[in-house]
Amino acid sequence: MKTIAIVPAAGAGERMGTGRKKPYLLLNNRPLLYYSLAALDNIPSIAQIIVAVYPGEERICQREVTEKFHFKKSIQIIPGGKSRQESVRRLLERVPEDIPLVLIHDGARPLITPELLKQAIAETIVWKATVLAVPVKDTIKSANDTLQIEKTLSREQLWAIQTPQTFERSVIWEAHQRASQEGFIGTDDAALVERMGVRVKIIMGSYDNIKITTPEDLIVAEAILKNRKK
Ligand code: CTP
Ligand code: MG
Repeated sequence: MKTIAIVPAAGAGERMGTGRKKPYLLLNNRPLLYYSLAALDNIPSIAQIIVAVYPGEERICQREVTEKFHFKKSIQIIPGGKSRQESVRRLLERVPEDIPLVLIHDGARPLITPELLKQAIAETIVWKATVLAVPVKDTIKSANDTLQIEKTLSREQLWAIQTPQTFERSVIWEAHQRASQEGFIGTDDAALVERMGVRVKIIMGSYDNIKITTPEDLIVAEAILKNRKK
């Protein structure tokens, strides 16, 4: 089913603590953003890729990523917003109404594989709304302001949510419109869909599909890539 991939990559990368923005940091000699785009470029049902970058850095993205490497598909670059949610909303505005599916994948998750992307699209044809996730490995507790534990959550029911998150276009469009009208801010796109009463299906992701947030994550990502090449 015809899909458009949208890639939020417009964050400031504050927790990374480097001068350069995250999409252009090198992982095995290639910019971080290259990896997500290369995986998406491999999926036949993806018609087009649209990336949101930090406002004013559109040219940098072209120069360092989309023009530097060979991609088969058309890649459009737009300025993102102040929050991730706003970046995604701006990206959704660029998706034509006749496109049935939208796949959202963070530019900061370079280790996604074409196999998982294909699975996400196939499952969304059945379920309308899907997210990749993995079972949490740690025990998760909630605590109050003075760091006293209030509750131990039951691990069997807890999932660490990743991207891609894939939706019928109309469902995610409506969810973002409503959230914006009602001033709701969610920590992922699925949360906006969930609050409309739409069921979101989990697809087993991969512990490899890490988000690059702090400098150690780059070291881990490099090790995972090396191991894959063996
Ligand atoms: N993102 C975005 N627009 C924003 C903020 C974030 O498109 N205004 C994107 C990031 O570029 C990233 C993804 O959302 O691909 C997940 O965000 P995160 O890992 O938090 O990246 P940053 O916001 O860049 O990092 P930080 O929070 O440390 O500043
Ligand atoms: Mg952020």
